[in-house]
Amino acid sequence: MEARDPRRQDAPPASVQGVWAGVEACRRCDLWRCGNGVAGEGPAHAKLMFVGEQPGDQEEQARRPFVGPAGRILDKALAEAAVPRAETFVTNAVKHFKHVPRGKRRLHKTPDAGEVIACRWWLEAERRIVRPRVIVALGATAALAVFGKATPIGKFRQTAIQLPDQAQGVVTYHPSYLLRVPDAEAKRKAYGMFVDDLAFAWKLAA
Ligand code: URA
Repeated sequence: MEARDPRRQDAPPASVQGVWAGVEACRRCDLWRCGNGVAGEGPAHAKLMFVGEQPGDQEEQARRPFVGPAGRILDKALAEAAVPRAETFVTNAVKHFKHVPRGKRRLHKTPDAGEVIACRWWLEAERRIVRPRVIVALGATAALAVFGKATPIGKFRQTAIQLPDQAQGVVTYHPSYLLRVPDAEAKRKAYGMFVDDLAFAWKLAA
């Protein structure tokens, strides 16, 4: 079995710092070539965990999840839902920024299922360390990583889904999706549902 083979069984890290170090040295897929790894941040035993898709351009440089445009929407919605971000653990399904260069810019590229599955090893390590009561999957990629299968947001939002590790899973939109909704009224409605979903998850975790 090769070092980058996702079936490879290393001893899983026992701390958030161990996950950061492991992600830094990770060769489970080729995305390590894309720049800095960004693992999760927040209290080691937060009751609520947010899982996004992957770090973006600003997150890769700052080495922190959700600090760019999507992070600003998340922060605004969290404030409106009265959810203190500092009390939650924020991470991503994939720990590297998959992108393609376009001149001076780096354009986001959605990670494929193989990359999500390879990186799930780190998300599972974070889940074992933090042991949150509730895990919120932000968007379809995160839902695939958290639930291990496609979980349509329209069908499952505002639903507590039992996970094998005793946590409850909740699925909602990815904040970047809210930026892309073209129609102003539809955007306002989707954002309102997002705020409601965050409040629902926080209440569930109480
Ligand atoms: N989008 C994500 O899914 N995660 C981040 O950390 C930033 C943008």
